[in-house]
Amino acid sequence: MTVVENKSRYSPDFDVEVRGDTITADRYISKEWMEKEKQNLWPKVWHLGGVVAELEEEGDFIRHNFGKESVIMVKQADGGIKAFYNTCPHRGNRLIVGESGSVPRITCGYHGWQFDTDGTLVSVQDPDDFAGGNPCGKTKLAELRCETWGPFVFWCMDDDVPPLAQWMAPLQERLANYGLDNWVRVLKLSCDAEFNWKIIRDNFNESYHLPTIHPELATFINDGLPTTLFEMYESGHNSMWMIGHQATTRVDYHSAEVPAPLDDIARAWGVDPADYNGHTGDIRAAIIKAKRELGPSRGYHMYANMTDQQLVDYFHCTLFPNLTLTMSPEQLQVLRTEPHPTDPEKCIFQHWCLYPPIEGQKELVGPIGTVPFKLDSVVRHSTYGDGVSLGFVADQDLSIGTTQQQGLNSRGFKGCLLPGQEKRIQRFHELLNDYVEGKPA
Ligand code: FES
Ligand SMILES: [Fe+2]
Repeated sequence: MTVVENKSRYSPDFDVEVRGDTITADRYISKEWMEKEKQNLWPKVWHLGGVVAELEEEGDFIRHNFGKESVIMVKQADGGIKAFYNTCPHRGNRLIVGESGSVPRITCGYHGWQFDTDGTLVSVQDPDDFAGGNPCGKTKLAELRCETWGPFVFWCMDDDVPPLAQWMAPLQERLANYGLDNWVRVLKLSCDAEFNWKIIRDNFNESYHLPTIHPELATFINDGLPTTLFEMYESGHNSMWMIGHQATTRVDYHSAEVPAPLDDIARAWGVDPADYNGHTGDIRAAIIKAKRELGPSRGYHMYANMTDQQLVDYFHCTLFPNLTLTMSPEQLQVLRTEPHPTDPEKCIFQHWCLYPPIEGQKELVGPIGTVPFKLDSVVRHSTYGDGVSLGFVADQDLSIGTTQQQGLNSRGFKGCLLPGQEKRIQRFHELLNDYVEGKPA
């Protein structure tokens, strides 16, 4: 049996001390805490707004509603992208009501004011009826910062937050080899859920729940603690490398036959699982070799730049405060929760899946089954509990949210008691504590 072992589950180069703040329930249930986040957290971070592929021509827009706020990202004549608050400078009407689309001018539905795609007011009714003269050419939509990374567009409300590349550090660098720039968002799924947004953030900040919530993953993802590497960064983001194409070491699959579905995955790469009976952990190395040899002829040209680890393992990046990017070599999952506009005990959960374009590929098998390979092949919003899948594994994660929210409301809950492997949760909450108290710059 060959198992790649780490001496420490936390990378010595990327570890962060924690203070031990008590993680109390109020942050999940109180309106006061929610208001503090609104004032001191959300304006101070970058938000993923959409994908660059939605913005091809001047006037193409994406609208991102976030809590009570709404932001529009608009393609410019010069090829750039600008972000604006979605509010009319006349009397505040929300300008864009659709999720995405294309407009020659941004036009307010109330009194018909029109704005160029660069946000400049260009047409009003009765332009001479303003004390300061015609406001056209002088008045502009309120603009926010807007930057892109890979296939994504981000926005930020605060001028003092570092630029996106610096804010993401070191994850842009860590993710560079995957060649994400031209990956295509095929699934855009979301739902309303009955729990605070941090419930799922905590869930993505630990792998402790895998054996209980995702037992099916154990036959092809090694969630054994000694083989899982955590990295914690000063920026507040963190990551987890989990060995893939190898069964868990929590259960002895390694001395028996290669379990399903790893056996079929191996066969798909021309590796005979029978050759690995009794030493199933070794099949990971055989699959790396096969991917190197066969990948280019199957259209997986991005394999050439990937490390062996990237070819077979799972790299979960959890960005502070609410964005998770889960990488496998052929799939990027964006998993995110956002606060409900008014209720701290509700949130919006989003699950996007992106894939590399492979020549000739007409469809693919993703978390909700086989779908056509194209931009936004499936876009849907549901209410959790109505039986609409957010993806097989995501459904399992969501399944615990409501009962955890209920339990956190109990007078008997005195604060979290975390094992060492959940230090990323501790760090998240300590940074959150700092933000809501207005401590970070
Ligand atoms: S509120 Fe927009 S034109 Fe009046
Ligand atoms: Fe999970």
